[in-house]
Amino acid sequence: MSNPVELSVDLAGVHLKNPVVVASGTFGFGKEYGAFYDLSELGGICCKGLTPARREGNPPPRIAETPMGILNSVGLQNPGVDAFIAQELPELKRHDLAIIANISGNTPEDYGVMCEKLSAAGVDMIEVNISCPNVKAGGLAYGTRPELAAEVTAIAKKHASVPVMVKLSPNVTDITEIARAVEGAGADALSLINTLRGMRIDVHTRRPILKMNTGGLSGPAVLPVAVRMVWEVAGAVKIPILGMGGVSRGADAAQLMLAGAAAVAVGTACFDDPFAPLRVRDELAALAAGQGLDRVSELTGGVRPW
Ligand SMILES: Cc1cc2nc3c(=O)[nH]c(=O)nc-3n(C[C@H](O)[C@H](O)[C@H](O)COP(=O)(O)O)c2cc1C
Repeated sequence: MSNPVELSVDLAGVHLKNPVVVASGTFGFGKEYGAFYDLSELGGICCKGLTPARREGNPPPRIAETPMGILNSVGLQNPGVDAFIAQELPELKRHDLAIIANISGNTPEDYGVMCEKLSAAGVDMIEVNISCPNVKAGGLAYGTRPELAAEVTAIAKKHASVPVMVKLSPNVTDITEIARAVEGAGADALSLINTLRGMRIDVHTRRPILKMNTGGLSGPAVLPVAVRMVWEVAGAVKIPILGMGGVSRGADAAQLMLAGAAAVAVGTACFDDPFAPLRVRDELAALAAGQGLDRVSELTGGVRPW
């Protein structure tokens, strides 16, 4: 018998015992999934997006199925950063996995305040979601303008004492432009992709299915977009990438790693099958073993483009 494949990877200095983490907003703070298996089986958890104060989220309907995916307009429903630190983090810390807090703010200052609180509370990494609207700049998403993305990154870095990973929006013409700006502002890692903006309409009532009219598309349908964007970004920056978007099998994760991701996140697939992250991990390990690799990290950046 050959030695088992080494599954651990390094993401900007954060040790992941395996390269599979769960994506923000699809796994809550882990409690519900903890009923199915020990969360220590995961490489890490990107927690549900946090805001400075509690948010109820958007009115329903806020989830709609699509061919090979879902549209959501949940709208960052969360208990607020202080309640997370007091009520959710202690329980999560009892497990052996990387805890990645995901944050969204309306102003650059919001990001600074949350980075300080979460660093002091002892999370392993902060994932900065820049897909939310900048109230000061008239509702323009931070993630669609390089200078705004860089401003938020610099503030997060200034106030965080743990590695900062910036989550990029795919709703841009050239994602490498934003990636370079964020790297230049000091980000330690990048995660991509967030959801793609989409819409469904009921042809009989002529009403959009989602109460917010539009929503974010995720699930298997977006995998090829994610693979393409990870590949482009990997060619443009030196910092590591957490790849995500449509991963539901080990081979999907391998595609994102070959495109350049150091680790992968499983999101929408968790709704279909709570065990999806563990299955992806095991299938990825089997795929790497089948290819005679010693370490799963050998997949990263291994694509051979024509
Ligand atoms: C219901 C739902 C809620 C989400 N909430 C967040 C969030 O709070 N913060 C964030 O950065 N991304 C959020 N996302 C985006 C996911 O983390 C992920 O980037 C995206 O869904 C693509 O991965 P997937 O196709 O594996 O789901 C959410 C996605 C879904 C489906």
